Amino acid sequence: MANNQDKFKQVIAHAKEYGYIFSSSEIYDGLSAVYDYGQNGAELKNNIKTYWWKSMVQLHEEIVGLDAAILMHPKTWKASGHVDAFNDPLIDNKDSKKRYRADVLIEDYCEKLEQKAQKEITKAKKRFGDDFDEEQFVNTHPRVVKYRSQQKEIMQRMAKSLDAENLADVKSLIEELEIACPESGSRKWTDVKQFNLMFGTKLGASADSASDLYLRPETAQGIFVNFANVQKTGRMKIPFGIAQIGKAFRNEIVARQFIFRQREFEQMEMQYFVRPGDELKWFEYWKEQRQKWHQSLGLGEENYRFHDHEKLAHYANAATDIEFNFPFGFKELEGIHSRTDFDLKAHEKMSGKKLQFFDPELNKNYVPYVIETSIGLDRMFLAVFATALQDEELEDGSSRTVLKIPSILAPVKAAVFPLLKRDGLPEIAHEIVDQLKWDFNVTYDEKDAVGRRYRRQDAAGTPFCITVDHETKEDGCVTIRHRDTMEQKRVKIEELNAIIAKEVSFKNWMG
Ligand code: GAP
Repeated sequence: MANNQDKFKQVIAHAKEYGYIFSSSEIYDGLSAVYDYGQNGAELKNNIKTYWWKSMVQLHEEIVGLDAAILMHPKTWKASGHVDAFNDPLIDNKDSKKRYRADVLIEDYCEKLEQKAQKEITKAKKRFGDDFDEEQFVNTHPRVVKYRSQQKEIMQRMAKSLDAENLADVKSLIEELEIACPESGSRKWTDVKQFNLMFGTKLGASADSASDLYLRPETAQGIFVNFANVQKTGRMKIPFGIAQIGKAFRNEIVARQFIFRQREFEQMEMQYFVRPGDELKWFEYWKEQRQKWHQSLGLGEENYRFHDHEKLAHYANAATDIEFNFPFGFKELEGIHSRTDFDLKAHEKMSGKKLQFFDPELNKNYVPYVIETSIGLDRMFLAVFATALQDEELEDGSSRTVLKIPSILAPVKAAVFPLLKRDGLPEIAHEIVDQLKWDFNVTYDEKDAVGRRYRRQDAAGTPFCITVDHETKEDGCVTIRHRDTMEQKRVKIEELNAIIAKEVSFKNWMG
């Protein structure tokens, strides 16, 4: 397999070639860090949304959905703290004139230390084979211990400095670690400055500042401001959750990683309202639930890790990231945060409206505490797509590029081929498409030899190919081939719906 950088380039090129992702307004040379999802991308995105929605809303009696507007009253963002504190610490390189997030430069430095530690572990694993005791090794091997303790020290210092708004120390840290500009190799840095990430806009034709609006930077606040509406109209009892999928906007400064960090993206968020004091129990519960969701898709346990936050946001009393092994290393895919009663209390204060729950068991009112699970839809898309894209050597010496997207998420579930474009075979293939299309997204393909059609569908991520041949007219059977095993079977046309349904059943994947 290609090295990480080549692999990432291959992912981007493949996503374009197979109609998954295009640069936004590409005919005008694109818009930086904004992307469009093509015919297959739109389907994959929808399927990821459905997989999340079903597991959060449909499988949890106590969780309901919401679809709040992107534009919200400007006081929302004052109350939430975004106007005053939704900032990134930025630093410029004086030679290359490139702008970076200071915290990301430092995190990348730590990631390199971690890669060195992992190299030692992999080497030792190979050397000691079955006798290898990883826990003992990482606790005693001098270089691994050094790399890990350096990382910890650096991250703790950065967290402390950012918390105290001590940006001068963040700059000193970058200088002490001799971090160079990734582009030019230069170590000449400006001071670190804060930059607010919200996109502003105006309401109507008014020029006065009271009508300054923001495009929401997270979907969560739409949930908080609707807490009482949903609780009352849905007669919800604590604990209960509200889930939402929607667009969010951030004026990201460092946006170099394809759809990983965009200026317009989608979040899938759920706020779970609990009794004060119970929040850490529910935090653990949601960590476990979300891990199960990820594992159910089979992207590989080794590709996930939890990263507990050293630096807690001002509103949180526990937070963890689920990180995924993207082609550019382990990075945040999802955040799970114990947000206390910060948001609801802040909105109570700003709006003057009560945002409380009367708990009949305790016979009192309180502002609930909140556990939040927040995953970026586009990042999940990238995790699925990049992991699925594989180059395979086949037994006959040939090779193929295959997109092994979990079949429940695959944009097209089956492609139906007539072996030849004559003798009534296309008509039968069209009839099969008509039979399947009510239950699944399927496609018809008659161009090129069947072997090439198989390769094309493998590369597009289609789990099943169904071929109609001359014998079909005699016995009512077709050949069905599976993308991953390339195994071919002869089955009756009437059995096709059941075969595909079994493969893409939500219960079979998530249950
Ligand atoms: N409501 C909490 C919240 O918004 P966050 O960690 O800022 O927390 C949550 O964002 C998730 O949204 C992240 O884990 C990530 O998957 C996704 N996300 C954040 N910024 C993003 C961006 N610029 N582009 C794509 N996804 C992003």
